[in-house]
This record gives sequence, structure tokens and C-alpha cells, in this order.
Amino acid sequence: MTGLVGSGPAPVTPGGYTSYGSQCQLQRISPTFAALEYYLAPHLKRFTADLALDLKDRTLTMTDCWVNIMPKGVVHSLHLHPVSTLGGTYYFQVPAGSSGLKFEDPRLDRFMAAPARKSGAPAALRPWHTVPAKVGQVVLFESWLRHEVPPNPASGERTSVSFNFNNWF
Ligand SMILES: [Fe+2]
Repeated sequence: MTGLVGSGPAPVTPGGYTSYGSQCQLQRISPTFAALEYYLAPHLKRFTADLALDLKDRTLTMTDCWVNIMPKGVVHSLHLHPVSTLGGTYYFQVPAGSSGLKFEDPRLDRFMAAPARKSGAPAALRPWHTVPAKVGQVVLFESWLRHEVPPNPASGERTSVSFNFNNWF
């Protein structure tokens, strides 16, 4: 894959590709991506229940959907998903050893004089948490939670589709 570089709020380094800056509503032009909203519905239902989100009888609607292709060495830098309620990623090609999705504790800028955590600290106490990328897996998150994909060390293309859901329609 030759390099097109995304220019949206979630930049991918040269050599990678994201359709965020050019075609970020694939669900509107492709039945394949439109079907993703249908298949994600039960996952969203369970996720929003776990979070006790009060959606005020509004339905979460897929507002954005884009593709990401990350060959070896490519980075998806730290970002959040503005103007969105929930974000997520579905992985459909993950070479062995690919980078996971790394989330940042949103309290990080307030950890004044806080000592580092021990290397064996429970996951819930660590400032970062990485969810491994697995083919066929969906990862959902609240859109205010910053995240990144560290440099992909794997040979081959780590390929995913990301999306946003909103509840104000
Ligand atoms: Fe993202």
C-alpha cells in the first residue's frame, strides 16, 4: 500500500492510510459498511448497559465509518474522537505481533507528584492499558478517552475499520 496520509483529527504516519480525511462515512456509500451498524447493535446495547448510559430513549446511530491500513512501522498518534458519543474499531486483518489499541488514563495530567506504578500493578491502576488487536474483534470506547496505535512492529498490513456512534439524532 503506498502512502496516503490522513489529515483528520486522528493522523496516521506516512506509509499508512486512513480514509478518515477523504471518505469517513463509508456506511453511506457501501452496503458492506452499512451492514456493520446492524452487526454492532448487540455489542452497543451491552456496552451502553454496562456503562449505565442514559441515552434518553435516543438511538445510537453510526455517523462515521472509515478504514485504516497500517503497514510495519506506521503509527496512529494519540487522539480522541470529537463530536462523537462512542467510538470503536473492528479488526479484519491482523498480522502476528501487530500493535494493540493503547488507552490513556484521562486523569494523567493531574497526577502531580504521583509516583510511577509498579510494573506488576493491577491493570486498573496503570496509566495506560493496551487492548490487543485480534481478527474479528470489536473494541468499543467512550469517545473522550484518548488512545493511540503505537508503531506497528509486524510485517504485513494491520487493517481495521473504525467508527463513531452518536445519540443526538
Ligand atoms: Fe481512534
